[in-house]
Amino acid sequence: MVVVFEATHEQLTAKYPAEVNERYPKGRKPWISSIEQYKTMYDQSINDPDTFWKERADELVEFFSPYHTVSSGTIDKGDIRWFDGGKINVSYNCVDRWAKKTPDAVAIIFEADEPGQAKYITYKELLDMVSKAAGTLRSFGLKKGDTVAIYMPMVPEAAVSMLACSRLGLVHNVVFAGFSANSLAERVNDSKATVVITADQGLRGGKVIQTKAIVDEALKSCPGVKNVLVFKRTGAQVNFQEGRDVWWDDALNQQTEFVEPVHVESEDPLFILYTSGSTGKPKGLVHTTAGYLLGAAMTSRYTFDLAQGDVFCCSADVGWITGHTYGVYGPLSLGVTTVIFESLPSYPDASRFWQTVDTHKITQFYTAPTAIRALRRLGDQFVTSNDLSTLRVIGSVGEPINPEAWCWYRTVVGKDSVSVVDTYWQTENGSHLLTPMPFATTTKPGSATFPMFGIVPAILDANSGEELTSTTAKGVLCIKRPWPSIARTILGDHQRYLATYMHAYKGYYFTGDGVLRDEEGYYWIGGRVDDVINVSGHRMSTAEIESAIIENEAVAESAVVGVSDDITGQTICAFVLLQSGLKESDEIKKSIIATVRAEIGPIATPKYLIILDDLPKTRSGKIIRRVLRKVAAGEEDQLGDLSTMSDPSILAGIVSKVHSAF
Ligand code: WTA
Repeated sequence: MVVVFEATHEQLTAKYPAEVNERYPKGRKPWISSIEQYKTMYDQSINDPDTFWKERADELVEFFSPYHTVSSGTIDKGDIRWFDGGKINVSYNCVDRWAKKTPDAVAIIFEADEPGQAKYITYKELLDMVSKAAGTLRSFGLKKGDTVAIYMPMVPEAAVSMLACSRLGLVHNVVFAGFSANSLAERVNDSKATVVITADQGLRGGKVIQTKAIVDEALKSCPGVKNVLVFKRTGAQVNFQEGRDVWWDDALNQQTEFVEPVHVESEDPLFILYTSGSTGKPKGLVHTTAGYLLGAAMTSRYTFDLAQGDVFCCSADVGWITGHTYGVYGPLSLGVTTVIFESLPSYPDASRFWQTVDTHKITQFYTAPTAIRALRRLGDQFVTSNDLSTLRVIGSVGEPINPEAWCWYRTVVGKDSVSVVDTYWQTENGSHLLTPMPFATTTKPGSATFPMFGIVPAILDANSGEELTSTTAKGVLCIKRPWPSIARTILGDHQRYLATYMHAYKGYYFTGDGVLRDEEGYYWIGGRVDDVINVSGHRMSTAEIESAIIENEAVAESAVVGVSDDITGQTICAFVLLQSGLKESDEIKKSIIATVRAEIGPIATPKYLIILDDLPKTRSGKIIRRVLRKVAAGEEDQLGDLSTMSDPSILAGIVSKVHSAF
């Protein structure tokens, strides 16, 4: 029988005071140990930001030469700069510092796809790998400012590649290895990458992914790429193009010279990461060096109460911002151990996360609500068969966590002896915006609680744009001031950056999320207010999926909406109008799905594909997505004003199609 802990109404609505208990290491004190300490620091971060950030920078990062200005620029102008004049290197901060201080401390634990095959890399070994990888990149003729695309499975070499880029001042562009060849090509070309780092194959949940073959396919349309560095993950026979392709091991083994970190400017770009916005084309967000590093280090320290000796596991893929900041840069900048998890939470069975925690004595664990909900449904026994008593802080990220899942996480995984941190932020932010402090903030299940240091949230009325200043408020979430790790621009399109984030509500950074502030000032994120949908914490734009669907020659028109789902948060529901003369068939549906997978990747596969005879449109011919959203949500009795709809008589047909599809 599947036993699943069900929270009572009292538990779901309770407040959970933060506390240090017997799990907390003797002789250590939390970085933030009371709400008063949080408030004092928060107030300083707002009232005297330059002093606050200077102090944090002094504590957390090392500059080769000092900066002359802590911060400049405004949200309105979009000319934000931090630590101007300083010279710094991220790989030096994340690797060399610790290789000197604690050379034998473990930097990376690699939890491979098959259980029992873990590997350990010390800081000394990591430095050797990063230096050799940097030497290899240099041998390709790359120099500061050039871009390298990284398309890799979750292996330590992915992190080594990122660090090697930063060592030379190269800009990395990590593309999630679940994206299709088309998506990869688009991102390689947009970022003008001349080198791609990849692997022969990937392994996930016992399945083999033909990583190199996807790269080969993509590169057919990337004339700018001169070299491909290929890490052997499985050793399978793969296509190898002499002159272009280079094996990782061979190349690194040839490097005999230690590669010194290049001194880069604080505002030099560190990486580009593509994310979906509300229009079709993904945007390459540009993060710069010093501010991003400090944001990663500071939030890792305070949100997870991290210190040397801790073993931190962030289950997010390096292809997403969470993998960048909390899988790689945050923990390594603090000299702690980071676990790189190659597998799936359900492989070989639903105890995999917890076995990993047990085996490596993980102290802080960070994952997504979708995983928590899926694992909860499979039963508590997968959790309780493992010793999880090393855990002190467990985090959630990527989408709203419902109170049931929150309570299960705390009670079943954490045995009511941990702090749960629900962390809210975005690719654009670089690091946490809203989060509890694990040993200071009283939490409420489902609330990301209060702002991180330096973050001034504002709730705006979506229509009037007016700021709602009363404690209790509901509207769209904006941020009033720049913080060090905010993305500086969209690659090649600063106007779009300004229009999307800085001028949607002039002078405020606009997150795109709805939010509620309760009578005690706690923030509750509601979800996107734009055309972005969030499936298992993966952000996609409806327009992007629609343009992929249209690529199929059978399709005349399409409209994509998000529908809520118990496990994945949202799923994709695609409405399609076929070319005239074509009839709905399984073959056509399969071919449309195949097109989406080829255009974007499996993550964009619609769960529901509904072929309609008509789409609801205004008299001027615009699709009324609101109507489709409501019908898909089963709220056809709440369609609102339909006076602009050209032919309301088609509604009954749409409703009946949706009912039979769901
Ligand atoms: C959503 C992921 C509620 C939100 C770090 C945001 C969340 C988008 C939370 C960013 C949370 C992220 N509670 N919603 N704790 N964390 N989101 O860029 O809609 O992949 O705008 O960054 O995820 O997704 P992204």
